[in-house]
Amino acid sequence: MKFIISRYNPETDQAPYDQTFELDNSQLSADSMLLDALHLIREQEPSLSYRSSCQEGVCGSDGMNVNGKNRLSCVTSLSELGDTITLKPLPGLPIIKDLIIDMELFYTQYKAVKPFLEAKPLDLEHEHLQTPEERSKLDGAYECILCGCCSTSCPSFWWNPDQFAGPAALLAARRFVVDSRDIKHIDRLKELDSPTQTFRCRHIQNCTDACPKGLNPSHAIQELKSIMVKEL
Ligand code: SF4
Ligand code: SF4
Ligand code: FES
Repeated sequence: MKFIISRYNPETDQAPYDQTFELDNSQLSADSMLLDALHLIREQEPSLSYRSSCQEGVCGSDGMNVNGKNRLSCVTSLSELGDTITLKPLPGLPIIKDLIIDMELFYTQYKAVKPFLEAKPLDLEHEHLQTPEERSKLDGAYECILCGCCSTSCPSFWWNPDQFAGPAALLAARRFVVDSRDIKHIDRLKELDSPTQTFRCRHIQNCTDACPKGLNPSHAIQELKSIMVKEL
């Protein structure tokens, strides 16, 4: 199996370049994941850099571009990928080294949508109750693991990462806008109602296509737009 991996060390390289590695099929099993292959390649080339932690699709640290699509290496089976696999860092953000990107702008945009509940002051006598219907509106949003696969596949985010929140942050924004316990609903909508913000999304759907958790940020953004039109 052949792996063409983008390498870049900002201390020694002018620009990223590709390096090819080979693994023998005997080193892999039928259920090997791409991350398993990367660990074997790193035994050949210890300077190869990539992130990983949980190895189970939970921490969101090992997003990378695999044969042109953003994916998590730990939940991507080698059997899906063919005999030649091309790996690049997630696009659109600065490269720190090899497959590791600088996620600072991604987190800045996430933080800017205030991804936390702003409820009435806690009253220990009365919980913030929700009906099952109210609770069900949060499904499909709280499961986000902040891997960045969506935002780094979004052309609107590539071109304006300092202005456009991007699909991951907007999915989080929608999660709190529809939360029946949140009292900053209208303030949240006003902050997102701008041509450089929510309305920068062109619904190309790259984000939804890229999400390894099967979430639908594009639909969440459409919902946000509809709520704004009705309520502002
Ligand atoms: S649907 Fe919107 S947020 Fe998703 S990739 Fe397209 S422009 Fe970006
Ligand atoms: S919405 Fe999906 S792709 Fe985007 S950050 Fe969350 S888990 Fe990753
Ligand atoms: S290593 Fe945690 S999601 Fe892949």
